[in-house]
Amino acid sequence: MTNSRRTFAIISHPDAGKTTLTEKLLLQGGAIHLAGQVKARGAARRARSDWMKIEQQRGISVTSSVMTFERADADGNVITFNLLDTPGHEDFSEDTYRTLTAVDSAIMVIDAAKGIEPQTRKLFEVCRLRSVPIITFINKVDREGRACFDLLDEVADMLALDVCPMSWPVGMGGLFQGIMDLESGRVSRPEGNSKEFLGKVDEDADLPEEVAEEIELAKIGYPEFDLEAYRGGDLTPVYFGSALKNFGVIELIEAISAYAPPPRPQPADGGEVTPDRKDVTGFIFKVQANMDPQHRDRIAFMRLVSGTFNRGMKLTPSGLGKPIAVHSPILFFAQDRELADTAEPGDIIGIPNHGTLRVGDTLSEKNDVRFTGLPNFAPEILRRVALRDPTKTKQLRKALDDLSEEGVIQVFYPEIGAQWIVGVVGQLQLEVLISRLEAEYKVEAMLEASPFDTARWITGDAKALRDFADFNKMNLAKDRDGDPVFMAKSAWDVSYQQERNPDLTFSGTKER
Ligand code: G4P
Repeated sequence: MTNSRRTFAIISHPDAGKTTLTEKLLLQGGAIHLAGQVKARGAARRARSDWMKIEQQRGISVTSSVMTFERADADGNVITFNLLDTPGHEDFSEDTYRTLTAVDSAIMVIDAAKGIEPQTRKLFEVCRLRSVPIITFINKVDREGRACFDLLDEVADMLALDVCPMSWPVGMGGLFQGIMDLESGRVSRPEGNSKEFLGKVDEDADLPEEVAEEIELAKIGYPEFDLEAYRGGDLTPVYFGSALKNFGVIELIEAISAYAPPPRPQPADGGEVTPDRKDVTGFIFKVQANMDPQHRDRIAFMRLVSGTFNRGMKLTPSGLGKPIAVHSPILFFAQDRELADTAEPGDIIGIPNHGTLRVGDTLSEKNDVRFTGLPNFAPEILRRVALRDPTKTKQLRKALDDLSEEGVIQVFYPEIGAQWIVGVVGQLQLEVLISRLEAEYKVEAMLEASPFDTARWITGDAKALRDFADFNKMNLAKDRDGDPVFMAKSAWDVSYQQERNPDLTFSGTKER
């Protein structure tokens, strides 16, 4: 069964066509029946909170969600695709990073007119860090774009990867006629979605001469597709297409079926856990509070690593120590509700809870595994939170705890002084914070300059830690978990303290 799962994310720059492509993938998979549903559903969801309003105003997506669809592969085996949506904005790299811990591969969407933008490159680097292999989809070839060779070279140069074109546009912009599969020579044409056979390139008189020449060059000019190199993250197969016109989308799904890796082993304390292990294990990579503000619900997203999950099963969260029964798991099959009773490795389950489950938690039947590798990152922007109405302190604390849990912000409670500090990786997170505080917690807050510039988690010898704490009270805070954090005035401050305290480690990340 586990070989039938493909759990992947789409990474792209905003506007490259991720939403359109997602919609077309779901359409091909039969998960939705009308194009436009992804957007329509998005709009309905957005109307619910101010937080979503930001999403709308900026035209970006700040939340992650999961969509599942099925499709038969070339041999008639049913493949289950779990598509995890990632926020498209660079400010949300931490959230994105966590989502990427839960996938086995990624699709990188590039706008043919724009090429690789810095944000996309960052996302790519995160994938590389996690050894997540990438299939590249160069979108919008129905428009006038950059030359295909330039785009391929850019991918190769900027990402230091081998590229292997798998398909090629027959003309771009106004001259766009279809997409040729380079191996078979078949061309899928506009009108209808069937692959029409136009004949092999070398013997085909129908292809415009320049296109035939270009395709010949493309075939000889790049390394051949090599499955191991792709899965090892050294090569990216490249597909051209148009999400809007539904071109190259089938080819993309087929590529995911055929090449993208099935669920992989996950790093854990006592070595890797492989998907063929019998008992159920999984980890929480995302928690989202207030998806429905009326109900104050809180959904933890778990990636199943091993075993077959059944509804009602008892699992022990590592953070809790005693088992919980998972009675109402949310599975994200848009098509077949029956399937929601079980899940296989690679699948994502939403578990409603009231705060018992946290990002980074391992859930397991036997409580004998701890997955690793879900870090917090040192924030790059720190701000002091000030309340307009000082009687709302309790609500603020609750909100900051919740939102830090979700990864929207990080929160630091200084040892001295009553003003709490929030840390973010990007400016946009601060806007999300303020608007969610207001919409969901009815707390009006302002952000003020913070005396600190950066934060480092401190670990090490207990006595050294105590001595350091006694000496540096003004610069000491606790994070949401109560772990000690050094609030530094500058990067220089950090290296100075590190030098003076060789028994302590000042870390820019913290394992969850
Ligand atoms: P995103 O999620 O990555 O931000 O991108 P999205 O799918 O929203 O697409 C951004 C814009 O690009 C949309 O146009 C969309 O219709 C267009 N687009 C996506 N794929 C293609 C393609 O293959 N060819 C062409 N020509 N356009 C494409 P918009 O005008 O901003 O939005 P809308 O009015 O269509 O909703």
